[in-house]
Amino acid sequence: MLRYSKTIGCFFKNPLKKAIFVRLQKTQKIIQNMSDIAKLQIGNDTYEFPLIKGTEDEVAIDVKTLRGASKGVITIDPGYKNTGACTSGITFLDGEKGILRYRGYAIEDLAEKADFLEVAYALIFGDLPTKEQLKKFHDDIKENAIVDEEVKKILDAFPKNAHPMGVLSSLTSALTAFNPSSVNVESEEEMYNAIVKIMGKFPVLVAWAMRKKKGLPLNYGSMKLDYVENVLQMMFEKPHEEFSINPIVKDALDKLLILHADHEQNCSTSTVRIVGSSHAGLFASISAGISALWGPLHGGANQAVLEMLEAIKEDGGDTKKYMAKAKDKNDPFRLMGFGHRVYKNFDPRAKIIKVAADQVLGDLGVEDPILEIAKGLEQEALKDPYFVDRKLYPNVDFYSGIIYRAMGIPVEMFTVMFALGRLPGWIAQWREMRLNKEPIGRPRQIYTGENLRAFKTISKR
Ligand code: CMC
Repeated sequence: MLRYSKTIGCFFKNPLKKAIFVRLQKTQKIIQNMSDIAKLQIGNDTYEFPLIKGTEDEVAIDVKTLRGASKGVITIDPGYKNTGACTSGITFLDGEKGILRYRGYAIEDLAEKADFLEVAYALIFGDLPTKEQLKKFHDDIKENAIVDEEVKKILDAFPKNAHPMGVLSSLTSALTAFNPSSVNVESEEEMYNAIVKIMGKFPVLVAWAMRKKKGLPLNYGSMKLDYVENVLQMMFEKPHEEFSINPIVKDALDKLLILHADHEQNCSTSTVRIVGSSHAGLFASISAGISALWGPLHGGANQAVLEMLEAIKEDGGDTKKYMAKAKDKNDPFRLMGFGHRVYKNFDPRAKIIKVAADQVLGDLGVEDPILEIAKGLEQEALKDPYFVDRKLYPNVDFYSGIIYRAMGIPVEMFTVMFALGRLPGWIAQWREMRLNKEPIGRPRQIYTGENLRAFKTISKR
């Protein structure tokens, strides 16, 4: 029998007042037989914890009882690299093998064969919809797509150069004020009503954020169109021209939105779940998720990638120079669009997007020198020991910006497009968290500050 043990040496000051030694033991047998347990030894005391096994054989040590049983010992894991926040039936990903599935369906199949609304339905409600289910879902979304006219005044108050992610987050939060019934949701029906409201109104806000930047009048698109077609119409329709959908652009957007639709417990999704765990309401939770997504280490990477590729082009296209910068520990520069917390293999989404980028640019007849720079960087990184050793591969955002640019979407809108795609994932995770009646998220800490000290009046400091 295969047996291994992992030893963690820890020295605590308080509350145990003595050095203690923590030993964690897990055996292969435990993985095979779920009646088995993990043992934790702290000093002379041994604690036993059940193991939880997922449907894809992932294993977790359930430490819920640790603090109470041990009188104060907790686990610490900054960045949550080893910490599962929940069990979830929505998305499975295996970072070592480069696998991504929504509700059991391979991302490759969904990207090729489904449309975004079908995928949204599957993520939120558990399986791909029948024709009737999809029609009802779409009808309910359309019925709830009107945004209160007063919201336009809030949009108006933003400066034209405001980043659309900030605008989107604010407007999404503001929706709560206009739809107070979406906050106290307890029954599945109340949840459904909040869900179709946000699915309807969110693309309107996305389009308005872009139209405001471009100085275009705000619009509503057309109820006759499908969900993604309507997004395009709302974004690109001009008041003096008949709008027609380019099927290449429509297919590309469908694919990009599907690829971004969920990614289990990432930074923004965890934010949505934790904000939602206080019962703050769906719209406030999504608004917080948008803010989390904005950062360049997360969704903001798609904008950062394009800006990086532009900078390399402006600088003469010397990819080697930027590879060297990325590897230099004294240089804060990172190769944006490379690396992933979970994928230690090719991001399966990046594979699909790379092919799509070639196709879309070819079909649209766009020649973008930046695509060549991106391919050059990828080739160099894939054989460079720095990137190979650290298992840094192109991620979903390495090529997505190139497609968005070819579609005529401004760079600052890239992360907004990511948010539009991620919306059903956030909703699904929020709904699952509420249906599972998860407790309020409230991590612990180990305090490392001053011990009690005497207060001095200001004249004596
Ligand atoms: N360029 C250069 N070095 C890198 C990069 C990069 N893009 N990413 C990681 N490294 C190095 C890092 O310096 C560290 O090296 P060392 O071990 O010598 O200290 C090692 O690789 C591990 O990196 P880490 O920061 O500890 O890994 P992480 O899991 O905490 O971070 C990441 C993951 C995505 C934040 C990081 O890879 C990164 O900053 N990438 C660039 C930003 C990016 O493309 N983000 C989009 C992620 S995909 C979209 C999404 O779902 O959010």
